[in-house]
Amino acid sequence: MAIDENIYERILQKKKELEKLRPFNQGALKKLKDSFNVELTYNSNAIEGNSLTLSETRLVLEEGITIGGKLLKEHFEVTNHQKAIEFVETLVKKPKIEELDILNIHAIILDRIDPENAGFYRKWGVKITGTNYTPPNPAKVPRLMQEIFSLFNSKTAELIETGARIHMKFVDIHPFVDGNGRTARLLLNLYFMRHGYPPVIILRAERSKYIRSIVSAQTKGDFQPFINFIAKAVERSLDIYLDCLGTHPKEYLSLSEAAKFSKHSAEYLSLLSRTGKIEAVKFGRNWKITREAIKEYEEKH
Ligand SMILES: Nc1ncnc2c1ncn2[C@@H]1O[C@H](COP(=O)(O)OP(=O)(O)OP(=O)(O)O)[C@@H](O)[C@H]1O
Ligand SMILES: [Mg+2]
Repeated sequence: MAIDENIYERILQKKKELEKLRPFNQGALKKLKDSFNVELTYNSNAIEGNSLTLSETRLVLEEGITIGGKLLKEHFEVTNHQKAIEFVETLVKKPKIEELDILNIHAIILDRIDPENAGFYRKWGVKITGTNYTPPNPAKVPRLMQEIFSLFNSKTAELIETGARIHMKFVDIHPFVDGNGRTARLLLNLYFMRHGYPPVIILRAERSKYIRSIVSAQTKGDFQPFINFIAKAVERSLDIYLDCLGTHPKEYLSLSEAAKFSKHSAEYLSLLSRTGKIEAVKFGRNWKITREAIKEYEEKH
């Protein structure tokens, strides 16, 4: 198995804990979903190059305010992404995911931005800036996309790996002229939500790691960095869901605070966090950790 066993075990454990909290407190769930949707929209668009900040994105979505000096296109990207999330939610319980579902997601993403291409596969070759990889000939796209639908609809025990493969295969095919990354990230969410997981957020702050792990799968055939990257994103979402929906919210400490309760330095705790050896959650750019996680790690080692 390509996924790191420590992370995988923790994911299964946390998923179980989350199941125990069902039915969720509806008020808390709504608040959590709303803030997640803003974060998803901000991060996915920022990865693509949109210049709105998290709070500007929130203002556009929640207050319908336009931000001075920002392009109309950037505002459409925000509202379209929110609509696309709402559409994805309607697909969570759908028995089968089909071609039209994916085309519709893409149509919403590029709505009013590129009407000629919104919802249509590309008819030309594309280049991906900054890489040597050339996606397949457009004539092959519809047939290659069948593999995405079969992955979506297949039964598998290797959920995290399959989710990651769907994303990877999709960006390899690069079926659209533009908006492939945003659509791929929404498909990742759709896949996990269909299996009872919270949505996963690929952070703007981790863009280069994200791209690097895609490229390493492509050039070296090494899929492991990408799977583990996705696995960590899944774990982060589970942590946030458990924290917000659980009855005993956890107290997250910054690494420098945490070092006071640990025999390890903040630097070492950071290394353990980044390598997935200790249970830690990334909030924005910073790792945070609970006293319980430190205790558990120190008891084991
Ligand atoms: N070497 C690569 N091969 C295949 N896919 C790649 C490679 N590098 C990046 N990607 C994927 O392609 C996406 C960019 O494609 P595209 O510009 O069509 O999508 P976008 O939504 O407009 O932008 P973005 O994906 O940056 O949000 C990246 O986000 C990433 O998911
Ligand atoms: Mg683009």
